[in-house]
Amino acid sequence: MRRAIKYSPHPFAHPQEEELAAYDTETIDSRYHDALVTWQKKNFPELSFLEENWTKFYANQTPFQLYAKIGKLSNNNIVFGRMAGQPRFEKASEMVGNMFYSARDIIRAQASTELGSIQQHRLTLEEAPNDQMKMAVLRIMAEELRHAYQMFWVLSHDHSWKKPGHPDIAEETMDELLSMELGNHVLDAFNIPFSNFLDNVVFATVIDLVGKYQLEMQKVFSYAPMARSMGPMLSEEGFHIGSGRGFVKELAVAATNGSGRYSIADIQKTLNAWCPRGLEMFGNERGGETAVAFGFKDRNNGTAQSEYYNEVREVVELVNVAVVQTKVPGTSAPDARTIVREVQDTGERVQGVHPEDLLFVPDVKFYRKRGAEEVVFMPYDVSGTLLTENNKPISGEQYLGYLNTVLPEYFMKTNEFTKYRDALLGYERPEAGRSYGW
Ligand SMILES: [Fe+2]
Ligand SMILES: [Fe+2]
Repeated sequence: MRRAIKYSPHPFAHPQEEELAAYDTETIDSRYHDALVTWQKKNFPELSFLEENWTKFYANQTPFQLYAKIGKLSNNNIVFGRMAGQPRFEKASEMVGNMFYSARDIIRAQASTELGSIQQHRLTLEEAPNDQMKMAVLRIMAEELRHAYQMFWVLSHDHSWKKPGHPDIAEETMDELLSMELGNHVLDAFNIPFSNFLDNVVFATVIDLVGKYQLEMQKVFSYAPMARSMGPMLSEEGFHIGSGRGFVKELAVAATNGSGRYSIADIQKTLNAWCPRGLEMFGNERGGETAVAFGFKDRNNGTAQSEYYNEVREVVELVNVAVVQTKVPGTSAPDARTIVREVQDTGERVQGVHPEDLLFVPDVKFYRKRGAEEVVFMPYDVSGTLLTENNKPISGEQYLGYLNTVLPEYFMKTNEFTKYRDALLGYERPEAGRSYGW
C-alpha cells in the first residue's frame, strides 16, 4: 500500500520533520503480530481509549494503525565507514562476524526502549493534569508500540537473521523483548519507574530526544531495512519531543504563577534525575567508532552526546524565557532571554527573577554511573564542581547525602537508584568495559 502523509508541524518540531513523508506499509508475520497485540492488551489496554477519541484530538492526523512503515532511502549505498560506497546490505546474512551481532544489538536496544517507555508512561498516565496531556501521552505510547513493531518487522521479514546451523537470532531476540519488564530492559533509563506526571513530560523532553538523535544518526544504516525504518519513526518522534517541551513549559509557567501542581524545584529535581541517564544512552563518550566503521551511524558517541546536551540546554532556556515573561509581564522574548542569562551567569537577582525561579540542565559530570572513567561515580555537583573535603573527593556516603538534596525523594527509592548506591559505596561495580550504549 502506498501512502503519503503530511506531518503536521508542532510548534517545537524540527523543520525537517515537516517534509512530505512517503512510505509503504507492511504487516509482519502473524505469529509476531499477534504476540505484540497480546503484549499491548496486557501492557497498554488504554490503546482503545486513544482510538475511540482520536478524531476529537487529532482530526487532521491519520488514525493510529499497527503496521511497519517502510521509508525511502536517500542513497542506496553505504555512506560511512569501511564499506562506504558499496551497496547497502539487504540481508542480515550479508553482514559478517561482529557486524551481524552489533546490528542485532542496536535493533534489540531500540525495541527495548519502545516497549519499556510504554510500561513507564502507563504507571502515571492517569495523573495527567488535563485531557490534552493524557491524550498526548497515549499517542506517544501508541507510536512507541508501532516503533517496536517496526523493529520486529526488521527482524522478522528478513529470514536471513537465522543462519544455517545457528540459533534463530531474530526469534530469540523478539521472544526476549516480549518478556522484558521494567528492571531488565537494555538501557538504564528504561528501568526507572515513573512516580508522577512530571516524569512523563520530562522523559518525553529529555529521553525521547536521545531517540531522535539515534534515529537521525541511523538514517545511514548500512543494513537497508533498518535505514528505511528511520524516517517514519523520526516523524513520530517529533510529536513526542514537541509534546514534552510544550508541557514542561506549561507546567513551569503554572509553577511560576502559583496555579500548578508542581513547583520549579520539583521540575528541577526531575531534570536532575533524567538528564544523566539521557547522556549515558549514547554509550561511552570516548567510543562509538565501531558503529561508524560498520556504517551504522554517522557520528561517534561523544559528538552526538555533546550536540544533544546543547539542545537540551536550548530547550530549557526557552522554558526559562516563558518563566521570566510570566514573572515580569510585558517582557519581550529577547529581553527575557537576556534576563535568564544574566541571572544564571551571575547567580544574582535581576528584575525580581532569582536563580531558583529558573531551571537549568545539570552538568554532564553530575551523577554519572557510566561513561568516562574520571566522571563515573565521582562526587560532582549539579554545576560540575567536584565536591571535596580536605582536598579529597567526599565519600560515597557524603555524596548520597548531597544527592538527597537534588534528586526527587521517590526517585531515590527506586531499584535503579539502589543499584547506583550499591555501586557507589563499592558493594558492586558494573563490569568494566561492558557495552551499555545503544
Ligand atoms: Fe520511539
Ligand atoms: Fe518517542
